[in-house]
Amino acid sequence: MRKPIIAGNWKMNNDIFETEKLMNTLLPLVAGAEAEVVFCPTYLGLQKAVEMAKDSNVGIGGQNMHYEKSGAFTGEVSGEMLKAIGVDYVIIGHSERREYFNETDEAVNKKAIKALSLGITPIVCCGETLAERESGKAEAKIVGQIEAGLKGIEEITKVVVAYEPIWAIGTGKTASKEEANEACGWVRQTIAKMFGEDAAQKVRIQYGGSVNPENVKALMAMENIDGALVGGAALKASFAEIVKF
Ligand code: G3H
Repeated sequence: MRKPIIAGNWKMNNDIFETEKLMNTLLPLVAGAEAEVVFCPTYLGLQKAVEMAKDSNVGIGGQNMHYEKSGAFTGEVSGEMLKAIGVDYVIIGHSERREYFNETDEAVNKKAIKALSLGITPIVCCGETLAERESGKAEAKIVGQIEAGLKGIEEITKVVVAYEPIWAIGTGKTASKEEANEACGWVRQTIAKMFGEDAAQKVRIQYGGSVNPENVKALMAMENIDGALVGGAALKASFAEIVKF
């Protein structure tokens, strides 16, 4: 009942020429995929990517946005600006933004609400550190991030949540399918408590953290996992194998 959604987060990789090249490689390979497919290049690659993906099955997403429309926020880009070039998705609150750019749950919440108001699908990220997992605090961390990040959202069923254990990002160390499913279940239960069981059953929850063509199928077979947010493996032609798991 929930349509799978596989998104590639290109992070700070690929200049405009490399973006064009990767788009040319991937677009034909992912055509016909049953899953919803999203590519998230850098801000500089977005417009080109939107143009190139126009008649394809691929949606284009930003990796961040500001919640204000415009103003004195040096270096920032607003949701309105993303919308103006045809961007339909945006990653919000990735752990790298939380860690290196001090992004708070409050900012995540404002960004998610703003994205929805513009008709942009927010992919809201959550996840625990290794220390939090090892000290039995993973559930509390994730529940707290979801409660604060999704507070007051009206169109909850349009939100996509990405559970990404920080210790599994870019490390080659994937959470076991059971661990990933359990944590995605904590996300769903929290959404059910906040917005009701019906809504929670409609929200799509991705797993992210060293997803690759070899492990994607087993992860996607789990009850609470509806997609993947892919980093390193999204920069290669074999991303098509992940998309067509
Ligand atoms: O947004 C994507 C995640 O951070 C996962 O990155 O697939 O390189 O581990 P990764």
